[in-house]
Amino acid sequence: MKFILSLLLCIAVASVMQGKPKEHGPRVETLLAAMTLEEKIAQMTQVDYTAIQNNADDVIKYSLGSILWGGSSEIKDITAPGWAAVYDSLQRLTEKTRLKVPMLFGIDAVHGHNNVNGAVIFPHNIGLGATRNAKLVGRVARATAEEVRGTGIHWTFAPCVAVARNERWGRTYESYGEDPALVAELGAAYVKAVQGTKLSDKTSILASVKHFMADGGTTNGVDQGNTECDEATLRKIFMPGYVAAIKAGARNIMVSYNSWNGVKMHGNKYLMTDVLKKELGFTGFLVSDWAAIDQIDKDYKTAIEQSINGGLDMVMIPNGPGTHNNYVEFMTILGALVKENKVPMSRIDDAVRRIVSVKYDMDLFGNPYTDAKLTAQVGSQAHREVARDAVRQSLVLLKNEGNVLPLSKKAKAIHVAGRGADNIGMQCGGWTISWQGAMGNYPDGGTSILQAIRKTVSKGTKVTTSADGSGAEAGDIGIVVIGEEPYAEMKGDREDLTLSKDDAAVVATMKAKGIPVVVVLLSGRPLIIDPALQASTAFIAAWLPGTEGQGVADVLFGDYKVSGKLPHSWARTMKQIPINIGDKPYDPLFPYGFGLTYKK
Ligand code: GLC
Repeated sequence: MKFILSLLLCIAVASVMQGKPKEHGPRVETLLAAMTLEEKIAQMTQVDYTAIQNNADDVIKYSLGSILWGGSSEIKDITAPGWAAVYDSLQRLTEKTRLKVPMLFGIDAVHGHNNVNGAVIFPHNIGLGATRNAKLVGRVARATAEEVRGTGIHWTFAPCVAVARNERWGRTYESYGEDPALVAELGAAYVKAVQGTKLSDKTSILASVKHFMADGGTTNGVDQGNTECDEATLRKIFMPGYVAAIKAGARNIMVSYNSWNGVKMHGNKYLMTDVLKKELGFTGFLVSDWAAIDQIDKDYKTAIEQSINGGLDMVMIPNGPGTHNNYVEFMTILGALVKENKVPMSRIDDAVRRIVSVKYDMDLFGNPYTDAKLTAQVGSQAHREVARDAVRQSLVLLKNEGNVLPLSKKAKAIHVAGRGADNIGMQCGGWTISWQGAMGNYPDGGTSILQAIRKTVSKGTKVTTSADGSGAEAGDIGIVVIGEEPYAEMKGDREDLTLSKDDAAVVATMKAKGIPVVVVLLSGRPLIIDPALQASTAFIAAWLPGTEGQGVADVLFGDYKVSGKLPHSWARTMKQIPINIGDKPYDPLFPYGFGLTYKK
């Protein structure tokens, strides 16, 4: 009986192999030939942890292909060992499935392994854009990959290669900047480094290049909005990041919520299949964004038909049993669409081939579980040094009256004020532990800017602090750390980017003391800063530097010669936004690429 079965299997494989591109390899075809339609569709199904945590047996029942932790999906013990334990226990369930295909696990490690308490949190992409340093971005990516693998997970939903063209957009900080060439260079560097020499290396993780495409170009910067432009502009501004990432070896691309000229990206066959897969030769797989196909049509079956036939390969589904558009519904409906010949089996086979090929390339079949040696690397000093260097290089000096910076480490007295002075959560911004991030001295292991200042100055220097600037005295040096409270997608869009009145008041309070005032701005984008800029003696854009506040002190006290360059044009007023390099007329407060350095 077994002989006949294996003979049939060989015949099946041979028939499927005919005319198949070599890159898929016989083992993929063998597996594909052995799969039922239901097992194939399960490979295309990515379920959020919150939807599966209480019915994990569905992993076995359906042979699910992938699990993700979306922005707000948390586990109980968020230390690295805690994450590794949850990962291994879920992955082990695949051993009880018929074909034992390991699952892919994805998470938003977008500025370090930011869901893990104790992980190193790096500057968000806008700060990395200010460094103009592709090698440094590679070091950040490498450290991130090592920390992600330390928890068993092997797929990050990064890099975001959005080209943010309107700073009203709440995801501006996830973009490296407004210039397509800079985004392409740094995005490719991230993909190369995070995927290592080979995807099968022990510290490699799969990159997910996102969000395809033109997420940063929507009218008025509306998140998930509509990008209105002709195809030439679409290709010129928003495509270079994907061309470079594919050249760099990207094997996964995440499709974007936004529309292009009124057509939802998730239903756009021309861009997903004709352009990305055929013209650009993308051989990896396309994953949807979080429940994004639901936005194509209120009828779930129509949405599934359009997105899968459009070229989507894996669908991110946050909804569990008992809710609408849940993962069981998705699999059932897609199975019905195939049986009704509305979705051809060849489309299903193409999607599964792409997904399984990546699983083989990642050596998931051979090495599916956490390597405990890597767990200890999460939050390592070596990684913190990489982050500190990234922070130093990301700061942009906008003003330095009388060369007040760098400050002396032997200053008599320094008063540090502002909401951001002693607030690691504000330094980190969104996508930190929780989806939207939070104020407060958390996550563990970091250094606030105040703590860093205290560590840097001499024993004889008196350092005082207050949020509102009170207590500063004549003779002090004033440092004010102000800016935006943490936010992430859907919550960060702002019509008015003017610095808050409270923040401007702190600067004025310090100025009134007649002391030099150095402003450090923590923000996910350029803000309208005029009153505070006028009142300041020096002004630094620090973006969202992450846990390693020491990098800010290094610049303040001259241990690093400030070198950052603006990744965005800095508008004078809201009326000027959007304002981007190449616009005519072009009269920003500070132009794209601006950045002072120290004279001495
Ligand atoms: C979110 C974001 C995307 C993220 C995904 C998973 O909605 O748009 O950037 O990777 O869902 O959390």
